[in-house]
This record gives sequence, structure tokens and C-alpha cells, in this order.
Amino acid sequence: MKTKFLILFSIGLYYANNIYAQNPIVGAGLEVDPYHYEITRTGTYENGTVACAHPLASQVGVAVMKRGGNAFDAAIATQLALAVVYPGAGNIGGGGFMTARIASSSSNIMLDFREKAPSHASRDMYLDKDGNAVLEKSQNGHLSAGVPGTVAGLFKTLPYAKLSFKELIEPAIILAEKGFVLSEKEANGLNSDRANFIKYNTLKKIAFVKDTGIWHAGDTLVQPELAETLKRIQKDGAKGFYEGKTANYILEEMKRGGGIITLDDLKNYEAKERIPLSFQYRGYEVISTPPPSSGGLILAQVLRMIEPFPVADMGFHSTLSIHLIAEAERRSFADRAKFMGDPDFWKVPDSALISTKYLMQRMSDFNPDSATPSKLIDAGNIPVSEQTTHISIADKQGNMVAITTTLNNHFGSKTVAGHAGFILNDEMDDFSVKPGVPNMYGAIGGEANAIAPNKRMLSAMSPTLVLKNGNPFLVVGTPGGTTIPTSVIQSIVNVIDYKMSIEKAIAEPKFHLQWSPDILYVEKGFDTRILDSLRKMGYTIQERGGIGRTEIVEFKNGKLLSASDPRGDDSVAGY
Ligand code: DON
Repeated sequence: MKTKFLILFSIGLYYANNIYAQNPIVGAGLEVDPYHYEITRTGTYENGTVACAHPLASQVGVAVMKRGGNAFDAAIATQLALAVVYPGAGNIGGGGFMTARIASSSSNIMLDFREKAPSHASRDMYLDKDGNAVLEKSQNGHLSAGVPGTVAGLFKTLPYAKLSFKELIEPAIILAEKGFVLSEKEANGLNSDRANFIKYNTLKKIAFVKDTGIWHAGDTLVQPELAETLKRIQKDGAKGFYEGKTANYILEEMKRGGGIITLDDLKNYEAKERIPLSFQYRGYEVISTPPPSSGGLILAQVLRMIEPFPVADMGFHSTLSIHLIAEAERRSFADRAKFMGDPDFWKVPDSALISTKYLMQRMSDFNPDSATPSKLIDAGNIPVSEQTTHISIADKQGNMVAITTTLNNHFGSKTVAGHAGFILNDEMDDFSVKPGVPNMYGAIGGEANAIAPNKRMLSAMSPTLVLKNGNPFLVVGTPGGTTIPTSVIQSIVNVIDYKMSIEKAIAEPKFHLQWSPDILYVEKGFDTRILDSLRKMGYTIQERGGIGRTEIVEFKNGKLLSASDPRGDDSVAGY
């Protein structure tokens, strides 16, 4: 049986390699071989670099830069490639945020292409007749999907790019049509959701469920229906997604599965340009996401709350430095739950939340000797399998692009948009489905983040740039649900305060405290004596799986240094 499989696999590989031999170019001029690729964790480059969750997508981004594109071209091509080769999180059926710096004008931009609630959504749509939250519906299947924003976001990025969208989408089309080889992690990821795919889809055949059983490393994943959708986008632009055949496929899927996204919801979706949130930390300028992401505000609050303290002198991962950052996080996440939501629906007191006076007052009850207990609220469990994805890109002109997009958790709603071949998000769970009821990341919320038609759900995504003396320094971001801001914060503190290399800064174990639940989560690898002393101060500590998959690019001595997170298949490329 095994021999038979090996022979068939080799024949498959032979034909596939032949196709690529005739067509060696995945998007003209690229050396991207979807059958043989390796992970490159770090690199130093002259001209341009991409760090993201999949080696093929990083290579596609660099290839378009080599053909005359800039960091924005790479962002579009990489995101589209991720939608194919990293379907658990890379997406066209989700949404995200982009923070970027345009070198020619030394200006910063922020694009919000977060999903929005369908027009027929309502505040209590996930409550049963007794008023209990039914999280199954906000987290899986048709009703959990928000109106996707990614494609609109990519077209909003296009004016900053140099190549045509037609060229930039070509590699993704070829990768979907001809297939690519799965790594072990990807094969396992698909297998772990096999039962969910079967449960939450209405079509008998979807690309992610292998007819003959489970996926193995080395199998080829081909996505013909996704390729057709990408071709429609290539031909008709954003309308190829939000109108016509693709929109109809989404609508038909909604009808078959009890979802509520309408043709008008799709047609009316708009990505928005917002003013990036920027603030100073130890003389560096940090630029990140404003609401409807909580990410930038949490970054600003936590970093500015810890700024008056000598974090470097306290020592890396010392009891005191962990305690300080955790207490700042506790206060910030409490603010998130009360004050943060879609600014088009809710007045977020953003400048008040990051004013020096307010933050000093917030930390005035910080006790260096003991943990401040969070209010006792029903605690949710933070899952270890989370799926969002971040791309950090820079080019030698000084363009910087940080883009984080998501389906929410692993394979989003698990529902494929019918014959359109892509996974729909389950972003509706990022709303507060009921005050005090934790979402899948254990986050609670209230009025600010209640569901309303066309409202954007609160996010934690934090694609972030750091400038040093006004010049490009870091491009940074990560997935991880509510742990996103804390991973970004710790990566920045590791580089700025502890003078670590970017590679070390992201590889070091991370910790996370989000007010509710009142638990200090830690990755493996902390000194047990330090953890014991934190317990004595009143912390409840819980070890959990990986926190974040951070990608960083650093501008250093005229070069571009790139580092990808060792927690996944993440890989850098550059030239
Ligand atoms: O927008 C948010 O904050 C979440 N939907 C992000 C989810 C996430 O990062 C899952 N990741 N690994």
C-alpha cells in the first residue's frame, strides 16, 4: 500500500514538475517552485524582503519586487498567495488591517478592511430563547461569517503599488490551479478540521477534504474553484469578488446553510482609510492600528504605562519586569472591554485613553510586590490553535508594509463559499455576543462592541511600524487573537529595551495577561523560580501553547534584516 502510494506520488510529482518545467514561472520571472521549498528563518538583504507564514508566499512577494514592484506590490501578491498556500488563515474570505509608510512622501497610511456585520445582523442574534449565548453559531458555520473585506483592502492598496493587479494575482492563480506541496504542519492542520469541514459545508466536495482519507506531508493541494474565483478578480477587479458569479456563489451558500450575507452586503462593502495611531516610546515613534482594532491603543497604553519604569535594569523576564508588563496589560484590557468598538458606531475616547495623565493615574495603584486581582468574571479558555496571519515587508526605498489579516480561528467558519472555493471567516465572534460572555479568546465586552448591522467587530490586530529619528526601523506584527498586542509589545520591548536581535526578540517565550480571565499565560521556557515568585505575588499562572507568530523586518546599517517566527512554517525571502 505504502509502495503504491509512493509510486503514485512520484508519478504525480513527475507530471507536476513537468507542468512547471513547461511553465517554470509562477508569475513571469519568478523562481517559485511549489514542489520544493524550504523554510528560511532569517536573512539580510539589500533590496527588499518579505517575512510571512509560508515560504512560497514570501517568495512570491520578493519575485514581484524583483520585477519592478515595491513593498506594496509585494503585499498584494503575498496576501493573495497566502490565500492559496496557507488556507487556514491566509484568505480572501476574511479581513484585516494594513499599516504602511510611503517612502516618497514620508507619510503613513492605515487601511481598515475589517469584515462587517451583515445588514440583517442583530444584537441578540446568537442568543437562544432563554437569552443564553450560543457560541457554536458565532464561531462556526454560515452565521458566524462577517462580510469579507480582504479583496477590497487589496484594491485600496493598489494605488501605492507599481505593477498591475492582473500581474500581482497571477502567481496565486497558478498556485491554486496547479497546486502546491503540503508541509507536515499544513497537512495536520487540514486533518484536524476534517470533521468540521464535513459538518459545516453544504457541498459534497470541497478542496480541503481529501477524498481518500487524511492528508500527508508531500501531498499536493489543488484548488480549482478558488483559481476560478481569482481569475474573476483578475478580470473584473473587486467586482469579480463582490458582484457577479462569486457574489452569487456566496449568496447560494448562505441560502443553503442559513447564513445572512446578502448581495447588497457584498456590493456595499468598503475598505476605509483611517488615520494611523502613533505615539512615542523611549524616543521611537510607534505607528499602529486605530479602532476598530484595539491593537494600537493597547500597544500605546501598555508601552506608555511601562515607559517611566527602568525596564532594561529590571532584567529580561525577571519577576519585576514580567509583573510590570502584566499589570499594564491587565489595565489596558479592562479598558478594551469597556471603551473600544467600531468608531463609526461608538465614540471611542482614544486620546483620553492614551493621555499621559490618564495612564499615570491608571498605574498609580501598581504595587511592585503583588498582583492586583482582576474583577471576578466568568473566564473563558484561550485556545491554543488560532489562525490569523501577518506579513512584514520592506524595500530599499524605505517603503514599509505591515499587514495582518484573519479568518478569526483556524479555517474561520470552516465553511467554504460554495463553488467559489474559499473559506469564509467566523469574525462575528469578535463582537461581544452578550455582555460578560467571553469570546473564543476569552475577551469580554459590552455596549461598545455589541452587534449592529454593518458594524465592524473589535479586533486586536496590530500591524505596526517603528521609526527611529523619523527613519524606518521596524515592521512588526503577529497573529494570536488577544495575544497579538502583547506579542508585539514584547517584541518591541525586547528590541528597544533589551537590545536583542530581531530573531531573538521574536523567538523568546512570551507571556500574556488580559484582565479577564485573571490568568497569567506563559509559553514553555520560563525560569520556574521566577514563575514561583510570581505565584507568591498572587498570580495564577497557566502554561499554554505558542503565543504569536511574529514577523519582523529591521532597517539596519543600510540593509534589511528579516526574521520569521520559529513557532510555525514561517519563512523570509529577499534579495
Ligand atoms: O481580529 C482579531 O483580533 C481576531 N479575529 C484575530 C484572530 C487571531 O489572531 C487568530 N490567530 N492566530
